[in-house]
Amino acid sequence: MSPLVSSLNLYDIANVKGVAADLSHCNTPAQVSDFTGASELADCLKGVNVVVIPAGVPRKPGMTRDDLFNINASIVKTLVEAVADNCPEAFIHVISNPVNSTVPIAAEVLKQKGVYDPKKLFGVTTLDVVRANTFVAQKKNLRLIDVDVPVIGGHAGITILPLLSKTKPSVSFTDEEIHELTVRIQNAGTEVVEAKAGAGSATLSMAYAAARFVESSLRALDGDGDVYECAYVQSDVTDLPFFASRIKLGKKGVEALISSDLQGLTEYELKAVEALKGELKSSIEKGIGFAQKQP
Ligand code: NAD
Ligand code: LMR
Repeated sequence: MSPLVSSLNLYDIANVKGVAADLSHCNTPAQVSDFTGASELADCLKGVNVVVIPAGVPRKPGMTRDDLFNINASIVKTLVEAVADNCPEAFIHVISNPVNSTVPIAAEVLKQKGVYDPKKLFGVTTLDVVRANTFVAQKKNLRLIDVDVPVIGGHAGITILPLLSKTKPSVSFTDEEIHELTVRIQNAGTEVVEAKAGAGSATLSMAYAAARFVESSLRALDGDGDVYECAYVQSDVTDLPFFASRIKLGKKGVEALISSDLQGLTEYELKAVEALKGELKSSIEKGIGFAQKQP
């Protein structure tokens, strides 16, 4: 639907033709093409500016995102190798879970191929911001369009940390509201997984969130100088090598990490930042270890 999309190349291991035929009937400028299976992957990626990777298996009730590692790690690795070979300059949006590990895997693969540009690799955490904005607007009776809550850390359980004290417009919460909202935002993915009862995880809200992040990336690539999003990227805002925070997007990718969001945090938020670091660190190390071990 975005006028900034000139062409849309769809890749999957099966059933792409139907999806492409379906989408191609929309009266939008995007030229839709389909590519099926490994033999068509290189052609799919040639000349591409933004690659979005939502490939892999979703959770079922009772699973953590990390339970998807064994299947999705190899899928992401293979796809990113092809990106490195065919469109190494592209922005790469990683949606496949566990994002906390799949982004470090992607970084390692790109390093091994000698084409890693940390400014162009993103773990997509937009859905956490979308949820935070929705839940805060509902709770405080705010106009949804006005609400913006930065979400930092990572994309799993307690590593998802909404900075409610930085909500725009400025709004006050009781301690109970802060705890309730934080826990709901952290468990929102699980809320959907349980409601779907075995039929997968969030797809429609994820599509909405991915469309927002792609649109922001395309606006930045188009020269818009005022594009900000939260994303999980290589970072020095904490002592962890990857961390989600607000970033400024520009033509070359991440133009700035907005570290000011991490200043002046409440005691609740400071404790939560410390509490998430252990899990995030081990997820990062797991991803790096996997990529380094592979032939
Ligand atoms: P899905 O099963 O509906 O779709 C996954 C697609 O991946 C399928 O079409 C499948 O054919 C394809 N696929 C499988 N192996 C592939 C390969 N080797 N190469 C290319 N494509 C391949 O699952 P879904 O609900 O769309 O979820 C996909 C992933 O996105 C999951 O890992 C899920 O956890 C993750 N997810 C992340 C977020 C987020 O906020 N980052 C939100 C929702 C879902
Ligand atoms: C989400 O947050 O909805 C996704 O990460 C999918 C999931 O497994 O929860």
